[in-house]
Amino acid sequence: MSFINSPVFNRVIVPLSFFSSAFGAILLIKESRGGKQCPSKERLDGKVVVVTGGSSGIGKETAKEVAKRGATVVLGCRHMGRCEKAAKEIRITAKSQHVVCRFLDLASLDSVTNFAKIINQELPHIDVLINNAGIMKPRPPKATPLTEDGFERQLETNYLGHFLLTNLLMDNLTNGEQPGRIINVTSAAYERGSLDLEDVEKSSLEGEEKLTELYYQSKLANVLFTDALSRKEELKNRITCNCLNPGVVHTNIDRYSTIPLYALSVYLYKPFQWFIMKTPLQGAQTSLYLSTEPTLSKTTGSYFDDCEFVSKTSEICDCELADKLWEASKIWTRLNERHTSVSHEPQERKS
Ligand SMILES: NC(=O)c1ccc[n+]([C@@H]2O[C@H](COP(=O)([O-])OP(=O)(O)OC[C@H]3O[C@@H](n4cnc5c(N)ncnc54)[C@H](OP(=O)(O)O)[C@@H]3O)[C@@H](O)[C@H]2O)c1
Repeated sequence: MSFINSPVFNRVIVPLSFFSSAFGAILLIKESRGGKQCPSKERLDGKVVVVTGGSSGIGKETAKEVAKRGATVVLGCRHMGRCEKAAKEIRITAKSQHVVCRFLDLASLDSVTNFAKIINQELPHIDVLINNAGIMKPRPPKATPLTEDGFERQLETNYLGHFLLTNLLMDNLTNGEQPGRIINVTSAAYERGSLDLEDVEKSSLEGEEKLTELYYQSKLANVLFTDALSRKEELKNRITCNCLNPGVVHTNIDRYSTIPLYALSVYLYKPFQWFIMKTPLQGAQTSLYLSTEPTLSKTTGSYFDDCEFVSKTSEICDCELADKLWEASKIWTRLNERHTSVSHEPQERKS
């Protein structure tokens, strides 16, 4: 009897090779769904990168990758325990001691102002600011619809806090030899967003629909912000500002989800999510590309996806609305007053 006809071959080898081929195919399909890898191999030795929301998901992986390339990294986070845990992981993986945590709650304009004051004192120069932190559809009891400042929570966390932060750190971003890079993490969902400056709470909507529309609105605001900032004449050649879609990424962004029978669905749905979504590291590639790619040192006002230029923001959004949002945000955040409280003498870049 030949080995091929033996019971061992039929009962063990055939099923084993079937399952390993199926497993290999699953991994290949998963990998092909992961999008492009950042093509830039540029190092960031001596550069300073600030990442908001670096305690989890895309932000943590972005911070890890820039730390691996030699950058000093500041993680701006609201839960210091989670932040320190992430920083420790990043220090070990990146073999770098230059990773620090600073308290930043983007849903509090005072907290953003304090964070900017501390950064001004500690790090007079910043090369890259990655406005990454975000929440999606927050609900009671975990989160109230309005922040302590009285703004709709998704708008303030995802957009308004970053508007204030970027403006308060502008001196630090513009005092280097190269233009400071400002990177706004938006989402393809911005396309479904609408913004009425007279009703940013979307008061006519209710429930799930309202929360979803408010998320879209906040992501549209990220694109409008990128557009308005990149057109500021006085900042031409001193900063670049671009935004990106990270893709559909398997992170904690759905932490507020209340899918019926959620506890059960977590177990049923998670393997499926793992299969169809990008990993956080794959989701971080476009942020990494915009942070490092030398040929992008002058590229501004652009929207990127999968490490590729997609379009100018002026072509995909309403520039007039972008300017109106900018002016409204200055008033909402009391920017001038806060800027005076944070501002300092122009600093020379530390060598
Ligand atoms: N995942 C996706 O499929 C996807 C798709 C398109 C766009 N995005 C965007 O990608 C960005 C990163 O999200 P992610 O998917 O990586 O989600 P994530 O794992 O939930 O990470 C979000 C980060 O933001 C932080 N954060 C939330 N509220 C904050 C606040 N008030 N102040 C400071 N930090 C705060 C979180 O900190 P805590 O841990 O303290 O909550 C966390 O570190 C978001 O802007 C999101 O809109 C994600």
